[in-house]
Amino acid sequence: MSNPTLQVIVASTRPRRVGRMVADYIGERLADHGGFDIEMVDLAEVSLPLLDEPHHPRLGRYEHEHTKAWSATISRGDAYLIVMPEYNHSFSAPLKNALDYLNTEWRGKPVAVASYGGISGGTRAAAAITEVLVTLGMIVSSVGIAIPMVQSHLADGRFTGYPQADHTIEATHAALLELTHGRNAG
Ligand SMILES: Cc1cc2nc3c(=O)[nH]c(=O)nc-3n(C[C@H](O)[C@H](O)[C@H](O)COP(=O)(O)O)c2cc1C
Repeated sequence: MSNPTLQVIVASTRPRRVGRMVADYIGERLADHGGFDIEMVDLAEVSLPLLDEPHHPRLGRYEHEHTKAWSATISRGDAYLIVMPEYNHSFSAPLKNALDYLNTEWRGKPVAVASYGGISGGTRAAAAITEVLVTLGMIVSSVGIAIPMVQSHLADGRFTGYPQADHTIEATHAALLELTHGRNAG
């Protein structure tokens, strides 16, 4: 039997972002732990315009090719890890936009959050997005990752990691695996 697909969603899209480096590191560690096929979903590459569909997404009556492609991408995910920065104590606009585009594609699927930022580790942004994820009917993991002072863990164009981060990545992987198998068994 093939592994379920865990999509790592990169929620920062700006030039010179650190988000992709953080996501690449987390994706590698998640792959090391096994049990999932890891797929990177980078919102900078997806490049959705601001929501421009005329119908409510729960109807699935998508008119634009970019929405149909986004729907197909998210539909093949069995679980998600959102790697997100904190902007002004909340989530990034591209992330909210990407979530709003779809509805049933998200519903009932496990999700965890990896936030990063300054001293708070992006935890205010993680708390804010949780309400959105619950509203979409997702199964939100109570275990997640928070990376404070993210800029101090970068070298040579990479996120370098540290033991506590590795520990929380492992715990989050275990939680997502349990939620995913619980869902498939139910
Ligand atoms: C518009 C903006 C708002 C920010 N607001 C916060 C904030 O509220 N809390 C925080 O810890 N860091 C904040 N930062 C600093 C970010 O944590 C830091 O720039 C980080 O690198 C952003 O992630 P990114 O490079 O992947 O976009 C902010 C950065 C930007 C660009």
